[in-house]
Order: sequence, then C-alpha cells, then structure tokens
Amino acid sequence: MIYRQRRLRKNPLVREMMAETRLSKDMFVYPYFVVPGTNVKHALPSLPGIHHFSLDKLIEDVEIGLKLGVNKIMLFGVGEEKSPDAHVAYDKNGLVPQAIRLLRDKFGDDIYIITDVCVCSYTSHGHCGILEDDYVQNDATIEVLSNMSLVHADAGVDMLAPSDMMDGRIGAIRNALDSNAFVNVAIMSHATKFASSYYGPFREAADCAPSKGDRKAYQMDFRNPREALREAFLDENEGADILMIKPALAYLDIISNIKSESTLPLACYNVSGEFAMVKAAAEKGWIDEQKIVMETMYAFARAGASVITTYHIRDMVEQKWI
Ligand code: PBG
Ligand code: ZN
Repeated sequence: MIYRQRRLRKNPLVREMMAETRLSKDMFVYPYFVVPGTNVKHALPSLPGIHHFSLDKLIEDVEIGLKLGVNKIMLFGVGEEKSPDAHVAYDKNGLVPQAIRLLRDKFGDDIYIITDVCVCSYTSHGHCGILEDDYVQNDATIEVLSNMSLVHADAGVDMLAPSDMMDGRIGAIRNALDSNAFVNVAIMSHATKFASSYYGPFREAADCAPSKGDRKAYQMDFRNPREALREAFLDENEGADILMIKPALAYLDIISNIKSESTLPLACYNVSGEFAMVKAAAEKGWIDEQKIVMETMYAFARAGASVITTYHIRDMVEQKWI
C-alpha cells in the first residue's frame, strides 16, 4: 500500500498538527436583547441561557463575558414603543443608543459593539420596513434605516449589521455615514438573508413577528443559490465591509460559494432555531451538546466564515470548549 491516510491520524498530537481548520474566540459575536426597565434579567424559554436584559443588567453581564473573552457583541432593542413609522428606531434616546453609550463609557475600546439595523421590533405590524398597501416600501424604509444608522453611529457603535434585506440600503447607509464623518463605522451586511423558519425563537425574543403575512417579499428564497451570489456582489459593490450569510447551518453551500467568488470577509449567523434545536436535543440527552456545538462551529469555519455570530459562544467559553 502506498497511501495510508491513517498514519497522520495516529494520535492526538499529530491530529492537532494536521488540523486544516482552527477556531479562536476572536471569531465570535454574541447577540444581546436589550429591554426597558431596571433590574431585568428575564430568561427566554425557547433560547435557553439567553435573556432579556435591562441596561444595568446588560452591563453586568457584558462585564462577565469580557473577562472570558466575549468582546464582540450584537445588540437588539426590544419592547419599546411600536408605530407605523417606527420612529423609536431612530430616537437618539432609544434603548440601543443608550446601551451603546453606556457600554462605551464603561468598557471603552475593550468592547466591540455591533448593532442590528432593522425596524421590525419598532413597527406596529412587525415587518422589516414601512408598510403601504400591505407592501414593504423599499425606498422609504432605506431612509429610516439610514437615520437609525446615524443615531447608532453618533452613540459610538463600531459596526452596523443591517438585517432588513431592502435593495440599495448598504449604499444608502454608507453614504449617510460618510456624509456625516462616520467613515470608520463598518457595515456587516446581512447580504444573503433567507426567508427562513429557523428564526422562530428570535421573533418571540425580539417581539418582531409580522402580524400579517410573511417576509418573502424582501428576504431571499432558499431555493436560489445564484441569486444569493448576486445579493452578495451588490452589497460588496455598495460598500459592505463584511458579508453575512443567514441562517448558517442549512446554508453551508451558500457560504462556500460566496467564499470562492468574493474577497470580502464572510460572517454567518447561527440563528435562534439552530440553537434551540441543539439545546432541546441536549436537554433530552439525545446528543452531546459540546461535541455537536463544536462540530457545527468547525463546519461554519470550514465552509468559509471567519466571523460567527452565535448564542452558543458564552457556553463555549464558560465551559472551556474553546
Ligand atoms: C429581523 C431579524 C431576525 C433575525 C435577526 N434579525 C428575524 C427575522 O428576519 O424574521 C433572526 C435571528 C435569529 O433567529 O437568531 N430583522
Ligand atoms: Zn427585521
């Protein structure tokens, strides 16, 4: 026999040396849900281990995370006033801008703050844009998203993560930022975000389920890998700094495709439904949580993601899986 593949699998030392894919804490982003009030730390039943935090409790929890190396977070605002025009989304004194200021005050540059840019938690109907005649109006929504982005930038955000899927919003947001001297605020575009049933637990957590209809008139059809490439190219051309693919686990082919076609850094979002499935099966004792989680994270990296947004990262660092 000339080839014996098993020679390089003989023991842990050689296996470690041969590993083609490696993970580090630096790659991970941890999502946070911020709610009004004080002293609120409310567990979310369908996202075990994840909570609604009021600002004071958020600071406490981030401080714990920072000590473990969880220093990149993504903020979602929940539970503020909803209206047809989503005006609270771009209120300077809204929860998310307040959170950004507080975190920056307290932790300075030790924390990298990313915010979700979308209005579905702020619209009375729960759609990711301004609704007229039961249709989400693209260009009117872009204006709101640009205003929201400027408010976050003014509060001191590091990176914006638009998750709405309107056409042309990356260009519009980049333009708004650049015209207001925020040239160093980065954009991680949810470039290819699919209309997915894996978002279920999140919609409960963020109170953002559409009261009528679905998101298929703006999020992508999961049957379309070529269209996914096109979405990625468009956002790259409009000035995105990082392209995100969402969900992640059922979309590894999309990550891999975009990886070979674009030179931008890629991120994936390991979404709420993916997390909930693992947690539920682990709770029943049907799978080994640590092993399943780590195998999954390596799959994201192997497919081409260098940034991974995941609810699992706190468990991973607390239990020293990474
Ligand atoms: C809304 C938004 C969603 C997620 C992030 N931002 C849900 C949706 O589009 O309906 C899902 C994240 C997750 O499931 O963890 N713009
Ligand atoms: Zn939305």
